[in-house]
Amino acid sequence: MVSKDDLARYVFGIDEIDAQHRALFEFIYKLDAAIPTSDSWVIVQQTLNDLNFWARVHFAVEESLMRLMGFPEAAAHNAAHANFMETIARLKKQSLRKDIARDTSRFLNDWLRHHIDVEDRKYAEYFRSRCKARTS
Ligand SMILES: [Fe+2]
Ligand SMILES: [Fe+2]
Repeated sequence: MVSKDDLARYVFGIDEIDAQHRALFEFIYKLDAAIPTSDSWVIVQQTLNDLNFWARVHFAVEESLMRLMGFPEAAAHNAAHANFMETIARLKKQSLRKDIARDTSRFLNDWLRHHIDVEDRKYAEYFRSRCKARTS
């Protein structure tokens, strides 16, 4: 079971980004709750579709922000996003064969937490330092 606790550490104080991260976690929780029951296959499908759509939107927002702010590690960050989207596409195909397990939601949860905590945190700190430099 994917844990819902300790999400506070993934909040950067950039409201729109924080709200989008929360929404992505909600899809993962929904998926986690739906996977164990065979009659929830439609919910699994729907949730993977939602996650696919909103992850794409979120990544586009982040990539635009990084480009606008001249974040020097944007290329590696964007590559991590592209990798995740490939994983989602693969999971969507697997789920069509109902070949999807609890490990899936755990993997997505772990990936998202790690990505926010390590990669997203880097641009958030870079943005903050750029903003501070402008105001001082
Ligand atoms: Fe993010
Ligand atoms: Fe990101």
